[in-house]
Amino acid sequence: MTGATGTPPLARYRAEFPVFDGQIYLNTCSLGALSRRSRARVEAFLDEWDRRGAAAWYDVWWAALENLRQRYAGIIGAGVGEIALHASVSTATGVMASALDYQRRPRVVTTSLDFPTVAYQWLAKRPLGVEVTVLESPDGISVPLEAFADAIDERTALVATSHVFFTSGSILDIAAVAELAHAKGALCYVDAYQSVGQVPLDVRATGVDFLTAGGLKWLLGGPGIVFLYVREALVSRLRPTVTGWFANEQQFRFDPRALELHRDARRFEQGTPALAAVHAQLGGLDVLDEIGLDAVFAAVRELADDLVARAAEAGLRPKVAVQPARRSAIIMIPAADPQAEVRRLAEAGIVADARPGHVRLSPFFYNTPDDHQRAIDVLTT
Ligand SMILES: Cc1ncc(COP(=O)(O)O)c(C=O)c1O
Repeated sequence: MTGATGTPPLARYRAEFPVFDGQIYLNTCSLGALSRRSRARVEAFLDEWDRRGAAAWYDVWWAALENLRQRYAGIIGAGVGEIALHASVSTATGVMASALDYQRRPRVVTTSLDFPTVAYQWLAKRPLGVEVTVLESPDGISVPLEAFADAIDERTALVATSHVFFTSGSILDIAAVAELAHAKGALCYVDAYQSVGQVPLDVRATGVDFLTAGGLKWLLGGPGIVFLYVREALVSRLRPTVTGWFANEQQFRFDPRALELHRDARRFEQGTPALAAVHAQLGGLDVLDEIGLDAVFAAVRELADDLVARAAEAGLRPKVAVQPARRSAIIMIPAADPQAEVRRLAEAGIVADARPGHVRLSPFFYNTPDDHQRAIDVLTT
C-alpha cells in the first residue's frame, strides 16, 4: 500500500467515529474509537432504564447479556457455553486463577512481555506457595518457544501469556505454547486483548484452555466489558473459589446456604455486569459485523505493512517482528523521549501513545496510509 493513492475502502466507516473530527486517531491498541452505533445502543439502554427501571432487567437486559456471550463466542469460534462475561481481564483471570490447584503444581510460567495484571494474579498468591517464573525476551519483541519448553515442567500448573504482546505487537504461536504446556500436564491461559478483533483467532484450533479479550481495544466496546473463554472439557472440572451470584445456577433462589455453580462457563462469572458497557460493546460489534471480520483483518494487515514500510523508509527503525506473519497493527517506533514525541503528535492533531522507549502507533480499519504519512512527517521533523 506504500505510496498508494486513493483511500482504502473501509475508511468510509470513519464517519461512524466522531473522534476523527479534526484529528487523526492512531491509538486503537489503547482504546478503540467510539462509534455512533455504540452511543446509540447506550442511549437506548438509558432510555429503557428511564422508562421501565428494573423491569427491563428481565427481558431486554438479560437478553443483551445472552446476545453478547453468543457474539463473543462466534468471534473466536467457541461455543456459547464456554464464555463468561467480566468487567476486566483482572477480574476474569482472578476468578480463573482461583479455580486452579497449586498443591502439586505450584508454578506459573509467564513472560516479561505480558501485560502485568496477568502476573499479578499469581504474584499475589506467593504467600500461598505459588511460584512465578517470568521468561525474559532476548529482543524485546517476542519470547522463543525454546524458553517456554525449558521452563515448563511437571510442577507447572499454568502457562500464562499473550497472543499479541502489547509491548511489541508481535504475534505468539499460542498453539505451540499450549502444546508445550499440555505435554507436561500444565494448562495454558492466553491474554488476547491485543489480538481479538485485529488478527484472526480460532480458539479451538489453538488448543488453549483459557483466553480473555474484550471491548476496550479492537472490539470497539470501550472499558468495562471482557470475556473469559474456558475450554469446554475443563468447565465442569473446575470450581472457582472466587465467585458471586451470577455464577450460581440457582441465582434467583437467593439462598445463602447453597451455591450450585452453572454447568457452563458462567460458573466463572461474578456479579452484576456493567450494562452500559455491554451496550457499548454490542454497538461496536454491530459495526464489525457489518464490515465482516475477514475484511477487517485484511485491511489491518495492509495498514500495518504500510506503516512499517513507511516508517522504515523514513529511517525510524520500527521495532517489529522479523517475520511479517508475526506482526500486527501495534507498531513501536524507538524514541529517546516518547512522551515528548506524543505531545508533538498531539499538537499536530494526531493521537498516539507512548511506552518506555517507544512511540506506539496502532492503525485500525478506519485509518489510511495518509494518516501514517502525517504521523511520520511529525516524527521525522
Ligand atoms: C494485553 C492487555 N491485557 C490486559 C489489559 C487490561 O487489563 P484490565 O482489563 O484488567 O484493565 C490491557 C490494557 O488495558 C492489555 O493491553
